[in-house]
Amino acid sequence: MGFRKDFLWGGATAANQCEGGYNAGGRGLANVDVVPVGEDRFPIITGQKKMLDFEPGYFYPAKEAIDMYHHYKEDIKLFAEMGFKTYRLSIAWTRIFPNGDEAEPNEQGLAFYEDLFKTCKSYGIEPLVTITHFDCPIHLIKEYGGWRNRKMIDFYENLVRTLFTRYQGLVKYWLTFNEINMILHAPFMGAGLVFEEDEDETQVKYQASHHELVASALATKIAHEIDPENQVGCMLAAGLNYPYSCKPEDVFAAQEKDRENYFFIDVQSRGAYPNYALKQLEREGVKIEMTEEDLALLKAHTVDFISFSYYASRVVTTDPKLNEQTEGNIFASVKNPYLEASEWGWQIDPLGLRTTMNALYDRYQKPLFIVENGLGAVDTPDGEGYVEDDYRIDYLREHIKAMKDAVELDGVDLLGYTSWGCIDLVSAGTGEMKKRYGFIYVDRDNEGKGTLKRTKKKSFDWYKQVIASNGENLR
Ligand code: BG6
Repeated sequence: MGFRKDFLWGGATAANQCEGGYNAGGRGLANVDVVPVGEDRFPIITGQKKMLDFEPGYFYPAKEAIDMYHHYKEDIKLFAEMGFKTYRLSIAWTRIFPNGDEAEPNEQGLAFYEDLFKTCKSYGIEPLVTITHFDCPIHLIKEYGGWRNRKMIDFYENLVRTLFTRYQGLVKYWLTFNEINMILHAPFMGAGLVFEEDEDETQVKYQASHHELVASALATKIAHEIDPENQVGCMLAAGLNYPYSCKPEDVFAAQEKDRENYFFIDVQSRGAYPNYALKQLEREGVKIEMTEEDLALLKAHTVDFISFSYYASRVVTTDPKLNEQTEGNIFASVKNPYLEASEWGWQIDPLGLRTTMNALYDRYQKPLFIVENGLGAVDTPDGEGYVEDDYRIDYLREHIKAMKDAVELDGVDLLGYTSWGCIDLVSAGTGEMKKRYGFIYVDRDNEGKGTLKRTKKKSFDWYKQVIASNGENLR
């Protein structure tokens, strides 16, 4: 009963949201650097507005973020104190290849992550590495148009070969693309896509998706060749779509919406384009250029495990009168009358996590890994920087309970759980610092002011005992 003995408890971050040091150690500029805080952010991440460099009058939070580039030893020490078994982080592509298309990597960037991984290992923490977490070198966007261009597969291959070779023995768990399905909603972040006027965006997005899917299969192949111990996962922004009612049209619409997401994982895990997707693309007039070799690669090199983020479930209706939307940009949905929502409008649904786990496990029959989950909330520290974040503890407790039920009562095979933003970091959706997820408070605000001091929140000790008891003690 309970979680497996080697269950990987931990936390997750992404390079661009925590590292800062945007031009340190020979690092090049990436898409994620040039997305400012404020009302221009969303049109940029959806590819409707172009900003490929810093512009005067804007604040760019990723430039310094929480400066983990210079604080990682202190931060990992705190993770170790909580008892982390794993730490999910991402590589900043432009630390390794500043432009993306160089033949040789940047040694300073490689050395930085080598030391970071060794620091993790010194505490018995297993690194879980996302190869790309929404980042793409600006040079590859300007010169090649980002992932719309097939050449990206070669640049990505060069990146992964370098990583798998250099970090052999240090890193075993790899994720190829963070939330690969986000390319449909955030194509600038997902694939470095910016659209021209009158361009067929759907066509471009699916062509770029194909390139990422092929690159992901190639990475899986290379990872296994270099070290059979390597375990490669796909990564889905999950959360089921519920039909608003039992009206058959609602049920069908929800199924179609889910398939928009499953499409990516179906290819990465089952090894082929699913029929429903081929039919839909045909109906929409989307023609993906693909070769026989691509299809053979996809078939032969499927992922070892299925990782996913879970924050909320969504609701689908065919009734325009019920179509009242929640807030929350990318996770905006029809309001579910049975659920509360976070301050940013994300609907809170712990049982939805169990349902999602079951749906994914039924569909793929591969081990699952929850690599993001958490509550973005406003924290109010006392004079010492201490936060009594009972609301965060409540959220996590209920989700961990649901995850436990999925394991104990439903028999889902689960490798681990890394809560999102284990240390406060910059929000991907809004660019704010105010939207905090961490067990560790970081003194920094939306304008980039603050000492960067780290302080343990109440949830720090709570999570520590959750890990120590392997999920038995959730009080
Ligand atoms: C996921 C991303 O979509 O959600 C993370 O993988 C992101 O990068 C997280 O930070 C939470 O979203 P937000 O907008 O609250 O930062």
